[in-house]
Amino acid sequence: MDSNKRPDTMERITTPELAEAFIAEQVKLVQEQVGDKKVLLALSGGVDSSVVAALLIKAIGKQLVCVHVNHGLMRKDESEGVIKMFQEELDANLIYVDATDHFLGLLAGVSDPERKRKIIGKEFITVFAEEARKLEDITFLAQGTIYPDILESIKAAEGKKAVKSHHNVGGLPEDLKFELVEPIKLLYKDEVRVVGEALGLPHSMVYRQPFPGPGLGVRCLGAITRDRLEALREADAILREEFDKNGLAEKVWQYFIAVPDIKSVGVKDESRYEGWPAIIRAVNTKDAMSATIEEIPYAILHHITYRITHEVPGINRVLLDLTPKPIGTIEFE
Ligand code: XMP
Repeated sequence: MDSNKRPDTMERITTPELAEAFIAEQVKLVQEQVGDKKVLLALSGGVDSSVVAALLIKAIGKQLVCVHVNHGLMRKDESEGVIKMFQEELDANLIYVDATDHFLGLLAGVSDPERKRKIIGKEFITVFAEEARKLEDITFLAQGTIYPDILESIKAAEGKKAVKSHHNVGGLPEDLKFELVEPIKLLYKDEVRVVGEALGLPHSMVYRQPFPGPGLGVRCLGAITRDRLEALREADAILREEFDKNGLAEKVWQYFIAVPDIKSVGVKDESRYEGWPAIIRAVNTKDAMSATIEEIPYAILHHITYRITHEVPGINRVLLDLTPKPIGTIEFE
């Protein structure tokens, strides 16, 4: 039987009871597969890797070694949240690598979107591999592969052209040969979330919006600079806070800020104030292949605009992107 094919008889996991049964089965399978060996996991803090981490902690405890690489392109307080959840609350074996300077150094002056994506993807693997080499007796590599990823690779193998080079961990160097542990590879995203909640992960973590591998790097448009990246991170945090407060976080599939490398003239304290615009993008979609624009009440938009322009140094305008996909992709790069 092809272990990468979801059996037609597999029931869709929609309830906590079905999730419990799935978890019990996977815990047993992982224990059988791994024995007393160690497993390495790149823990980004996204839904899939978080659910795999929680599942493996349940199955093998400290035999799981999680590595969280902060590429400096995370959202505000995101890495701190990963450390708090997994190290402090779940007592995971977690290695934290702050590679901010390294990544931002390599990205300095690079404006081509695909080059930026390639650098971030490649370096992510390099930094992760470096950590893996420092560790001893790791036999397995766990991955948060889910069923759509498998279907996607089948399509890629059939030669269908991708619009962007999406990246997740994969393609480790030759000298690092691990056996794979992929406990959620036959699950769809909605099932992963049900399983995550059954594992005790907080609702906000399990239902968080998708966040691309290259992070804020593809939202700080053109060549990334630290000051513009910081402005983007702060503006994005305000947008997310206001969406949460106003009940929009549950209604909108993905919402974020992008900041282009353009300055316009404004006025502040009666003086000329040049700044970047913060662009709001809020979309709904089923499968990310196409997307529609979500209507945000004007009162909320005014409030967000006021906060961003008053609280974030360097931003003097807020713009709203009304472009569906197609023709715009969800991300700007
Ligand atoms: P686009 O911009 O292609 O995005 O319309 C579709 C969805 O994919 C997310 N995205 C990524 N996810 N690695 C990921 O895991 C990536 O490199 C990547 N690039 C885009 C994007 O946020 C949206 O949800």
